[in-house]
Amino acid sequence: MSAENKDKKPVEGKHEEDEVDKLTEAMKDVKLGDKEEKTESAFKPLSSNDIEGVAKYILDGHAKNIIVMTGAGISVSAGIPDFRSPGTGLYDNLEKYNLPYAEAVFDIDYFRENPKPFYEVVKGIYPGQFHPSKAHYFIRLLAEHGLLLRNFTQNIDTLELIAKIPQDKVIYAHGGFSKAHCVGCHKEYPTDFVREKVFSEGIVKCDKCNSCIKPDIVFFGESLPDEYFSCSKKDFPKCDLLIVMGTSLQVRPFATLINAVGDSVPRLLINMNAVGVKASFKSEGIPLKDMMFSGGFAFYDPDNHRDAFFKGTCDDGVQKLADALGWGEELKKAFEDPIPEFKFEH
Ligand SMILES: NC(=O)c1ccc[n+]([C@@H]2O[C@H](COP(=O)([O-])OP(=O)(O)OC[C@H]3O[C@@H](n4cnc5c(N)ncnc54)[C@H](O)[C@@H]3O)[C@@H](O)[C@H]2O)c1
Ligand SMILES: [Zn+2]
Repeated sequence: MSAENKDKKPVEGKHEEDEVDKLTEAMKDVKLGDKEEKTESAFKPLSSNDIEGVAKYILDGHAKNIIVMTGAGISVSAGIPDFRSPGTGLYDNLEKYNLPYAEAVFDIDYFRENPKPFYEVVKGIYPGQFHPSKAHYFIRLLAEHGLLLRNFTQNIDTLELIAKIPQDKVIYAHGGFSKAHCVGCHKEYPTDFVREKVFSEGIVKCDKCNSCIKPDIVFFGESLPDEYFSCSKKDFPKCDLLIVMGTSLQVRPFATLINAVGDSVPRLLINMNAVGVKASFKSEGIPLKDMMFSGGFAFYDPDNHRDAFFKGTCDDGVQKLADALGWGEELKKAFEDPIPEFKFEH
């Protein structure tokens, strides 16, 4: 990839707008929890805008429907590189494929032309090779404590399944490897067959039409699964605490969901850097792109009444939160769980 092309953006335009419109449409009649009259404590739900304040809010019984939004950063300590971390992220390590722009590796039109880079890159993410991170186990603990409404993940590595987060609690917004289809005639292929071919031959062709076979992960230019839209609509009005971890919030429509909770619902970001911040504070962090519900995180806003930011690794952040909740040992123990032999069927 030439330097001049390295930062070229993918063809976001029309298709990305369509997906955002679809989400906006799905959410249009949604009444967010707390638009009515607010008491002082509803305006300022956290005793302090930090992990301790969030832990107190949970311990006081205010959070019974927690939504956790996750991205590639929660799997970095498991050994899977993210996309956008400078130096270590996948996008900084694609030179050898001579791509027109970094995101082309996950672009459906580019894949039809040149599928090899995708098959190469995907070997490093393929499920079955990695142990989940503490952040995955923390999400499982939330479920075990009866507090998890849903985990919306952008990840495709299936570590949620290995960590035994109940699968009805997980929305795989960008799909996964549990199914695979031909991009030409749409014939479905067994996942084990596709996996075997990816590792042995580096390319997988359809026996019917000779097009390539692709695991059902959502590429740029493809639609998100229906359940992403239906669960967004159903879950976000009920959400009483939003935890966002390990994502740059650069991919829409996923990123737009941080603004789909009521405006007195606390939001905790655990990330290496400040992301999704209000555009007016872009000197402090990476802003959200234009939103269907205006806004973004208000960490740097003097009137911030409900947003907390832990700057650091997801694993350190969840351990700190677990300690404050009195679950510290439980989390360490869960993390030591032997992982089950990997199977897609669940
Ligand atoms: N593990 C995976 O399944 C995987 C891996 C790479 C990319 N992706 C794809 O990346 C796309 C979206 O991008 P994204 O926002 O998820 O990833 P991204 O690469 O754009 O951003 C990752 C974010 O996590 C932060 N981060 C990195 N390591 C961290 C750590 N240890 N603790 C805390 N924060 C950390 C980075 O600073 C960055 O802000 C998705 O479409 C997803 O499918 C998935
Ligand atoms: Zn085919």
